Amino acid sequence: MIKYLGSKRTLVPVLGRLARAAEAGTALDLFTGTTRVAQEFCRQGAYVTAVDTAAYADVFARTYVELDAATVDVTAVRAAIDELNALPGTDGYVTETFCHRSRYFQPHNGRRIDAIRDAIERRWAGTWLWPVLLTSLLEAADAVDSTVGLQMAYLKKWSPRSYNGLRLAVPAFTPGTGRAVRTDAQRAVDELDRVDLAYLDSPYNQHRYYTNYHVWETLVRWDAPEVYGVACKRVDCRDAATKSPFNSRRTMPAALASVVEGVRADVVAVSINDESFVSRAEVEEMCRARGGAVEVLAFDSRRYVGSVIGVYDGKGRKVGSPGARSTTEFILLAGDPDRVAAMVELAADPGTVDPGVEPGTVDPDTAAVG
Ligand SMILES: C[S@@+](CC[C@H](N)C(=O)[O-])C[C@H]1O[C@@H](n2cnc3c(N)ncnc32)[C@H](O)[C@@H]1O
Repeated sequence: MIKYLGSKRTLVPVLGRLARAAEAGTALDLFTGTTRVAQEFCRQGAYVTAVDTAAYADVFARTYVELDAATVDVTAVRAAIDELNALPGTDGYVTETFCHRSRYFQPHNGRRIDAIRDAIERRWAGTWLWPVLLTSLLEAADAVDSTVGLQMAYLKKWSPRSYNGLRLAVPAFTPGTGRAVRTDAQRAVDELDRVDLAYLDSPYNQHRYYTNYHVWETLVRWDAPEVYGVACKRVDCRDAATKSPFNSRRTMPAALASVVEGVRADVVAVSINDESFVSRAEVEEMCRARGGAVEVLAFDSRRYVGSVIGVYDGKGRKVGSPGARSTTEFILLAGDPDRVAAMVELAADPGTVDPGVEPGTVDPDTAAVG
């Protein structure tokens, strides 16, 4: 899985337990990003709908959510990947834009990305292998990039991993299935069928995904856009159409309220943290407007071990407190009281330790900001 801002990698175990406790036969991941959470819901046996506006998120969802590890033709995937790994590099858009004009990849890898991406389009466009091979390419490119996990900037000095050779691998397919829907969340809640569990992990501040992951967007669209600035961002990053209402302090609270209110689900789980444009109390209000029970689970992201450090009851009483200088992650649960009570109980089980580095945790002084 790629490095991704706001990815809920560390919360995945607890979200899996929540889905199990909710006995979710159907689930919605409304801002799916890497699809990590959607994949966990699949593993828990739910039929999952994974929604996002990003082209690369759609590619991940078609690979990890739509395809079922039990039935996918891995031999065909391996054969295609062997073919792509054997291709010699060629100079193209990626080499010119992301290796010479900017420094996201070393030229030896940029040339391979150009050759492989062209071959994927030529040989597999319109087939089920297209998103699978793109997923493999994005993950391979992420493993040799020279950033801190955001594409608003690249490192002044090449990262150690950028010297490695790009190598595509067969994606780790997920058991279970569902569907990918590339659309706006506010539109999705009007159009999608009711689910047992809906998970809402919207952008919560000014950091735009379209600009922070413009290289992935371009690798999927393969539209050779004009770029601007040191970071060589797509010119359409400036367009209103690529801006999300979830990234503006002015529009985010209403946008979030509208999806919390509108999503058709027996239980809604909303993620926010204490760096968000909206406070926990405001989101709690949004949840209460749905009726039913509301509970708040709190997690300390620095020393996060998959276990709950605090549960706020209906009267706002809290158990536990986060450590100093840490970000608190909240999951608010709203819906059927029995289901919500079962979820709170199971979420408090100890989980898995996974102390990996998240995007943006490297000193920004070492990065060239575009
Ligand atoms: C916090 S991230 C989700 C991370 C995800 N839970 C994970 O673990 O990878 C928010 C996601 O919302 C998507 N997004 C932004 N605006 C959106 C909108 N209006 N409708 C749907 N998705 C949107 C972004 O592309 C991004 O992938």
